[in-house]
Amino acid sequence: MAKRLILNGFVMNAVSHIHHGLWRREDTLQTRFNDLSTWVDLVKILEKAKFDALFSADIIGVDPAYKGSWDTYIEEAVQIPINDSGALIAALISSTENLGLTLTSSILQEHPFTFARRISTLDHLSKGRIGWNLVTSVSHNAAQNFGFDQIVPHDERYRWADEYADVVYKLWEGSWDEGAVIADKAGNRYADPAKIHRIHHQGERYKVLGPHLSQPSPQRVPLLFQAGASLAGRSFAARNAEGTYIVAQSPEGARRQIEETNRYLVQAGRRPGDLKFIQGMSFVVGSTEEEAARRARALAEDISTDGLLAHLSRDLGIDLGQLDPDRPVAELDIQGVQGVVRTFEDANPGVIPRVRDLGQVYANAGNIVGTPESIADRLELWQEAGIDGINVSYHRLPGSFVDFAEQVVPELQKRGLAQREYAPGTYREKLFGAGPRVNERHPAARYRGAFAKAPAAAE
Ligand SMILES: Cc1cc2nc3c(=O)[nH]c(=O)nc-3n(C[C@H](O)[C@H](O)[C@H](O)COP(=O)(O)O)c2cc1C
Repeated sequence: MAKRLILNGFVMNAVSHIHHGLWRREDTLQTRFNDLSTWVDLVKILEKAKFDALFSADIIGVDPAYKGSWDTYIEEAVQIPINDSGALIAALISSTENLGLTLTSSILQEHPFTFARRISTLDHLSKGRIGWNLVTSVSHNAAQNFGFDQIVPHDERYRWADEYADVVYKLWEGSWDEGAVIADKAGNRYADPAKIHRIHHQGERYKVLGPHLSQPSPQRVPLLFQAGASLAGRSFAARNAEGTYIVAQSPEGARRQIEETNRYLVQAGRRPGDLKFIQGMSFVVGSTEEEAARRARALAEDISTDGLLAHLSRDLGIDLGQLDPDRPVAELDIQGVQGVVRTFEDANPGVIPRVRDLGQVYANAGNIVGTPESIADRLELWQEAGIDGINVSYHRLPGSFVDFAEQVVPELQKRGLAQREYAPGTYREKLFGAGPRVNERHPAARYRGAFAKAPAAAE
């Protein structure tokens, strides 16, 4: 019996997310991203097809990173305007019953105390369907919007992420013991003070006394995602994440990346299987190969190369609009997405990546054109390479998801590669089949009961 693939609808609360330029087409609703109905219709499509989750990416700054300005971003709506992903997720809770809802939040954008409470609130309201994509923000402007003159150096961002995660883990897992809530009306006791604790966090960046103000939500810790691709990023994901987003260029590249990350996972005291690998993909479906190819050509004509390069320039921290396309990437000082270079090297061993190769990494990684059957064949190869699931990105909204849901999902279901029904319980239970809480190997678990004897003298 084949193992099923995890299916995520991968979106951004913006006009243009990844496949830039396509918002101009007649057959897409991307310019209606401000309308709640656009997203409600989408989650209904996803839930009907038994997708696991809607995953909303997010960023918190715009940089003058392409051709020396931000004009391309503004003119081509490259991730600006962009609305908050967490607010969108909140608005979609009542339109869905089983769909996981993953928001993106940067360690820069919100103090961990308020963030932890907001997540607990959403996890309560959704009955445990919230996921969190933890990001460290690769943008200068993001840092400048939150009190810094420029981007915080790469590895320091991950040390910051370690502390941020530590604070929220303490609040979610350590502050309220199991059984703290008794809701005893007759006895006039809603909760037991002896089972609620301060966390006394004191670190490099945060000082948080606690207690957490929300009572424990179904999952306590939201399902945790992280898309680090650099060494520091993969190691952070291996320690903390339960799902990691990858953009390998080929099944072989994915296999190498997964094997390496799984080694970190074991070093971190966790087990292969504790971290799901979710590959970014897009699809152009046709009833014949020729029809699919024709559709792909039409999309390629509408894609904006400037838009793609602007997006990548921002992520790399390098203005590709001002560079010789034949220059080897190794000559550049990469502070941004080191992982982009690594994924190229993984997929093309021995090939020296050049500037012009980079645009394709985002545009073509995991793009499959074909019939439902040939798409399913290709997905089987990716699965054999070790991926657990896919992030389906769109060329048309919601058209790409409708095509996938109506044509590809039935073929995947026939092969046992996609679920026909949702498993009961929270997002974590649906994905891992175990309990609603992080397992005992996860770093958050060490805070269970950890503050029960915190000294009163610290008050
Ligand atoms: C599929 C995927 C989705 C991502 N989504 C976001 C996002 O929504 N916001 C963001 O700031 N970064 C996002 N990133 C960037 C990662 O969080 C991370 O910064 C990037 O992969 C670089 O990794 P590194 O920091 O380890 O070099 C995403 C990356 C991938 C692969």
